[in-house]
Amino acid sequence: MKRTILITGGAGFIGSHVVRLFVNKYPDYRILNLDKLTYAGNLANLKDIEDRPNYTFVKGDICDFESVSGLIREARVDGIIHLAAESHVDRSIKDPFTFAKTNVLGTLSLLQAAKDFWQPLGYEIDGVPCRFYHISTDEVYGALELTRPEGKAPYGDDFFTEDTKYNPHSPYSAAKASSDHFVRAFHDTYGLPTIVTNCSNNYGPYQFPEKLIPLFVNNIRHRKPLPVYGKGENVRDWLYVEDHARAIDLIFHEGKIAETYNIGGFNEWKNIDIVRTLIRVTDRLLGRAEGEDDNLITFVTDRAGHDLRYAIDSTKLSRELGWKPSLQFEEGIEKTVRWYLENQEWLDQVTSGDYQKYYEQMYKNR
Ligand code: NAD
Ligand code: TYD
Repeated sequence: MKRTILITGGAGFIGSHVVRLFVNKYPDYRILNLDKLTYAGNLANLKDIEDRPNYTFVKGDICDFESVSGLIREARVDGIIHLAAESHVDRSIKDPFTFAKTNVLGTLSLLQAAKDFWQPLGYEIDGVPCRFYHISTDEVYGALELTRPEGKAPYGDDFFTEDTKYNPHSPYSAAKASSDHFVRAFHDTYGLPTIVTNCSNNYGPYQFPEKLIPLFVNNIRHRKPLPVYGKGENVRDWLYVEDHARAIDLIFHEGKIAETYNIGGFNEWKNIDIVRTLIRVTDRLLGRAEGEDDNLITFVTDRAGHDLRYAIDSTKLSRELGWKPSLQFEEGIEKTVRWYLENQEWLDQVTSGDYQKYYEQMYKNR
C-alpha cells in the first residue's frame, strides 16, 4: 500500500529512530519529516537516510497552523505520527510557556489541520484510512509510591496502566497531559481516528546530552562531576529507543482507533544504580580501572516536584499486539555507552551548538 506519512519532531531523539525505521522498512511510503530544528533537533541524526527518494525534510513549526494545513493538504498526508514537543522537565521548570505553546497549541494546530482536510473526505484518502497517532509519556500519570525501596525492582506494588488517572506534576507533563486530552477530544467530537501511546523513559543513541544517560556518559569521559538530584533514590523505567520505534510502527499499523497503549519494558532502576552502572561500563570501555570515577558522583539539590517513581504496565500492548522489548537492559546500556564513546564528534557538535549550522550548509550546497 502507498501512504504519505507526516512525522513531526523527526530530527529529535526518538523521532529520528522512527523516521529511519519507516524510511528503511517502507520504500513505498512517502515520509515527510516536519521539524522546527530547535536546540533538540539535529539533522545529523538522519545523515544515513537523508538522500532516500521516499524521504523529505520540511523545516517548520507545528504551531504555524497555515503552513501545517498547507503541507497536509498539498502532500495529501493520510497518516500523522506526532512526536514534536519540548521534552526536558528541567527546561519546563524554567520556561513553562514554551512548553504550553509547543506541546498544547502545537498539537491543537496539527489536530485541527488534519481534521479540516480529512473530515470532508470521510477520513479516507484514495482508499487509505487516515490515522493521527500521538506520542505521549508515562509522566502524565504522575508519580508512584516507593513502597519497596530496598532490594530488587519492582520498587512498589502498583504500575501505571491505561486506566490510571492523569495527575501530572511538572509543567512538561502537564502540557503533555493537556495535549493528550485534546487528541482524545478530537476523536470524541469530530471522529478523528486517533491513537495515543504513553511510553516510559527512553535511552539509546542520538539523545540530547541534557538527559541523564548521555549527559553522564559524556561527563564520565571528561571526568566532570555527575550531578545526582536529591539522594538518587528516584526510580525510572527504561526502554531502548529502537524498541519504542518498533512499538510505534506496530501500533500505527495495527493499533485500534481511539485506544491508548502503554509502552514499557518492566525495567525499573533507581537513578543512583544507573549512575553506578554508567561509571562501571564507561570506565571499562575506556580501559580505566574499576571504581576510578566513583568520586565524580555529586549529590545536588533535588529537582522541584521531582516524581519519585515511574513504572509502566505494558501488558495490554503485548497481549493485544504481541509486542515485547528485544533488548535486555545490560545489553542496551553497553550498546548505548559504546555509541556515545564512538561518536564524540556528535556529542561535541551538539554541546557546542555547531550542529545547527548543518541545515544551512546542507541546503546551501544543493
Ligand atoms: P527531543 O526533545 O529529542 O526532540 C523533539 C523534536 O521536536 C526536536 O527535533 C525539535 O526540533 C522538534 N520540535 C520542538 N518544537 C517544535 C515545533 N514547535 N515544531 C516542530 N518541531 C518541533 O524529544 P524526544 O525525547 O525525542 O521525545 C519525542 C516525543 O516523545 C515527545 O513528544 C516526548 O514527549 C515523547 N516521549 C519521550 C520520552 C523520552 O524518554 N525521551 C518518553 C516518552 C515519550
Ligand atoms: P531525565 O533524563 O531528565 O528524564 P525525566 O526527567 O524525563 O525522567 O532524568 C532522569 C532521572 O534522572 C530523573 O529522575 C532526574 C534525574 N537526573 C539527575 O539526577 N541528574 C541530572 O543531571 C539529570 C539530567 C537527571
